[in-house]
Amino acid sequence: MSVGTDSHPIGVFDSGVGGLTVLKALVRRFPEEGFIYLGDTARVPYGAKSARTVERYTLQVASYLVKREVKALVVACNTASALGLAALRQRVTIPVQGVIQPGCRMAARLSRGGLIGVIGTRTTVASGAYPHTLHFLDPALRVTSLACPLFVPLVEEDWVSHAAARMIVEETLRPLVAASVDTLILGCTHYPLLKEVIAGVMGEKVALVDSAEAVAEEMASHLVKGIVRPAPPGSQGRLTYLVTDVADRFQEVATRFLDGVPVSHVEMIDL
Ligand code: DGL
Repeated sequence: MSVGTDSHPIGVFDSGVGGLTVLKALVRRFPEEGFIYLGDTARVPYGAKSARTVERYTLQVASYLVKREVKALVVACNTASALGLAALRQRVTIPVQGVIQPGCRMAARLSRGGLIGVIGTRTTVASGAYPHTLHFLDPALRVTSLACPLFVPLVEEDWVSHAAARMIVEETLRPLVAASVDTLILGCTHYPLLKEVIAGVMGEKVALVDSAEAVAEEMASHLVKGIVRPAPPGSQGRLTYLVTDVADRFQEVATRFLDGVPVSHVEMIDL
């Protein structure tokens, strides 16, 4: 079956720079697709805000991207996916992909003993979105969730290789080690950058689920099925970066999230 093509970009959004982990996985997998990345840097962090506020921000950002004629939306932020996805799906007609479902599916597939840990921001964990989705997939799964509010600043300030990072990660993850989880969902955009430290603390037997990779896998299936129509054959994807504040700081941190690849131009926008 052949599906029609669509040269419009895919919109990817996050509260700030963290969603670049998802963008990176998407660009690597679909170099022919164009992407508009929007980081809501004026209002980051979402992870410490109330559910109501996160939902409102999510709808505002999405409606801006819809006006820029994106053909699909990827909500790369875990907090926005946890709180804003349901409302968003009611309001927009284009396909919307969050990060929670793909991460949960991958975790349920990988878990050998059904003991799953989830780490995320305070707001994501308080929402219960991960346990809810995991139990929908398999009611027998035992889920332990944990908020890790110190992890985002460690990554943004580039302290991932610092001895303090190891101490903080070790201390924070103690309840998950005690719960003997066999699989751990990195339920926040920033945590893949701490993967080595987290793996060191959890031990090699614990499978780590990077939502960014899981989202790229899910998007591949959407493109094959035509739920999102792929770019015309032979296209060269264009990347556009938008932020709502501090573009220079975004550029500086973004390079680290993109494995050293510089972000040459960032457009400032008002929502
Ligand atoms: N992007 C957020 C998330 O994945 C982390 C940063 C924030 O709190 O805004 O939950």
